[in-house]
Formats: sequence, C-alpha cells, structure tokens
Amino acid sequence: PQAKLTDRFGRTIDYVRLSVTDRCDFRCVYCMAEDMTFLPRQQVLTLEEIARLAQTFISLGTEKIRLTGGEPLVRNDIVDLVREIGTMGLRDFAMTTNGNQLARLAQPLRQAGLKRLNISLDSLDRERFHAITRTGQLEQVLDGIDAAREAGFDGIKLNVVVMKGRNEDEVPALIEFARRKRLDISFIEEMPLGHITEHHRGESLFTSDQVRNLIRQHHELVPAMADSGGPARYYRMPDSPVRVGFISPHSHNFCATCNRVRVTVEGRLLLCLGNEHSVDLRRVLRGYPENDSRLRQTIIQAMDLKPERHHFSTQGDVQILRFMNMTGG
Ligand code: GTP
Ligand code: 5AD
Ligand code: SF4
Repeated sequence: PQAKLTDRFGRTIDYVRLSVTDRCDFRCVYCMAEDMTFLPRQQVLTLEEIARLAQTFISLGTEKIRLTGGEPLVRNDIVDLVREIGTMGLRDFAMTTNGNQLARLAQPLRQAGLKRLNISLDSLDRERFHAITRTGQLEQVLDGIDAAREAGFDGIKLNVVVMKGRNEDEVPALIEFARRKRLDISFIEEMPLGHITEHHRGESLFTSDQVRNLIRQHHELVPAMADSGGPARYYRMPDSPVRVGFISPHSHNFCATCNRVRVTVEGRLLLCLGNEHSVDLRRVLRGYPENDSRLRQTIIQAMDLKPERHHFSTQGDVQILRFMNMTGG
C-alpha cells in the first residue's frame, strides 16, 4: 500500500475535500452574503484539472474524497467528474449537497459511482427553510432526499446547522424525520467564516450539549464508535439504526485527530478550515501540465504548513474572511 501523507503533528492525511464550484442555487444565511460575487471562469479549475488532482492525491495515499461546493450539483459536468473519479479505486467517495437538484441527479450520481451523500436540511417548516436558505423550496429538497433514498446509496446523512432563534426548537422534529426516513443526522455548531449581517454568530450559538439535552427528553443516546477520525462524535438510539452526530467546533475541539485537507475550486490547497495557511496548486497544475512528480512534491511539502488547530471564537470578531462557499465546509 501507498505511504500516506503526514503532517508535523503526526496526523495522517488520507481524506481530501475537493470543492468543484463556489456557486450555489441557495444563499444560506450562515454561509454567504446576499450579494455574493462569484469567480470568473478562468480562475476555476477545469474538470480535467480536478480529476488530475484527485489522481495525484490518491497516488499519495488518499482513500477518501468528498466533493463539495458551493453547491456541487450546479456544476454542469458534475456527473462526468463523478464517473471519472469513481473509477480511481477510492475506499470512500462522497458528496455534500443542499439536495435541491437531487430529484433529477441522485440516480445518475449513484450510477456514476458516488457512494455516499450528505444533505443539508436545517428546517422542516417551509417558511423557515426559505428564510434560512433565502431561495430554497423545502418540498424540492424533500423530493431530492427521497430520490437519494431510492437510488440506493451506501449512506445518506442529513446536516443541520443549529442556530438559536432560527431552528433550535426543531431538533426533536428533525430527529423524528431522520428516524422515519432511516437517515443518519448530524447537528453542527455554526462556524465564523465570512462576515454575515443576519445574526450575531456568538449570540445564535446553540451548543451540541444543548442539542443532546433536547434529544434526551425523547430518546436515549448511547455513544457509538466514530468510524472516520473526523470531527463528528456519534451516538445511537437503542431502538433505531440511525446514528446521530455532533460537530462541535466551539464546545469540543477535534483538531488532534484531523485527517483531512481541502482544495478550493481555484486550486488553493487549504490545510485547515479555520486558518488561511494554503498553497497554490493551480499554478503547479497549469505550469507543469506533464509533470506529476512536481505536483506530488508540492503537496507533500504543503503538509508541513498544516496548523495544529483552529481558534474559532464566539465573540463575533470575524477571524476568517473567506466564506464557506469557497471552502466547502
Ligand atoms: P465526513 O466526511 O463523514 O467526516 O463528513 P462531514 O460531516 O465532515 O462532512 P460535511 O461536508 O457533511 O460537513 C459537515 C460539517 O462538518 C460542516 O459544517 C463542515 O464545515 C464541518 N467540518 C468538516 N470537516 C471539518 C474540519 O476539519 N474542521 C471543522 N472545524 N469543521 C469541519
Ligand atoms: N458553519 C457551520 N456549518 C456550515 N455549513 C455552511 N456554512 C457553515 C458555517 N458557517 C455547512 C452546510 C453544509 C456543510 C457543507 O457545511 O450546512 O451542511
Ligand atoms: Fe449553498 Fe451550502 Fe452555502 Fe447553503 S451552505 S449557501 S447550500 S453552499
């Protein structure tokens, strides 16, 4: 087997998140400003460049790739990209999506070799859903979720960003929804990426402990084994196959077991979600179109820049100017 990438803190990096677009058909309040400007075409990696990156990371021991955005399904050639990466022999191949286009694309994505899906769902109330996403129609996403279930993915997980005053009272309803549909579900503490004006991120923080307490009024939660060394901590309910995850950047730091890096759609290799340390891979991709060993060396050396941890605070000062849509979560 291939020797894996490691960093200065002894962490093994075998999971890469590739953002395939900065664009999105939603404008979620925690993720984007209302009047976003998007990247011009020539700054965006081509499908061939993204596939080359995937192949190169795999040659360096990467076993899991997740495609992110923006919203990955607004990229026209996304099914072709999935088909190409799907042949590369990954242990795990996943996508994070807002679900808006899944009614049409779930089946083609599954057939193209995608194994798992994470779908954002912050509310089950039509008006609130529209208020949080600014443009989204709840019914269309619910149809997308059903299409994904019918397409037979190896795993589907719902993602809920919990915000006080917006959706924290829906935690029990979302749990019942996940149980009824037999889908895993993760509750996420909002992270301070990009400056937003809709709410004060510190004041809207609803911690994972608070979410767990709400759930425990109705269901027992038993700690379950984490399977990926990722940020989520998982629990089970004794009477259901559904796993409940908590991603708690504020209340429970998980950076010591971080196993991942990200590449933005501009080809910037980001060593940590909560820091700006990065390396320009697009320059290498375009400057050395035939030279994969140059690209490999650049990636190996970049691991030395991976910071030990993020330092998110809830004080409302913006620490990271980059919005989540440039990062893919
Ligand atoms: P896995 O691939 O199974 O680990 O899924 P995931 O839950 O990490 O992926 P997803 O794209 O669904 O992201 C869910 C939430 O976790 C998003 O809010 C991400 O921003 C957050 N997240 C994922 N990785 C990291 C990380 O390394 N650091 C931090 N702070 N948050 C992360
Ligand atoms: N904090 C936490 N999670 C976020 N997401 C988007 N922006 C933020 C943020 N500021 C989530 C989305 C999606 C995943 C990619 O990241 O809801 O589930
Ligand atoms: Fe789009 Fe996802 Fe950001 Fe919402 S969280 S605006 S769906 S990229």
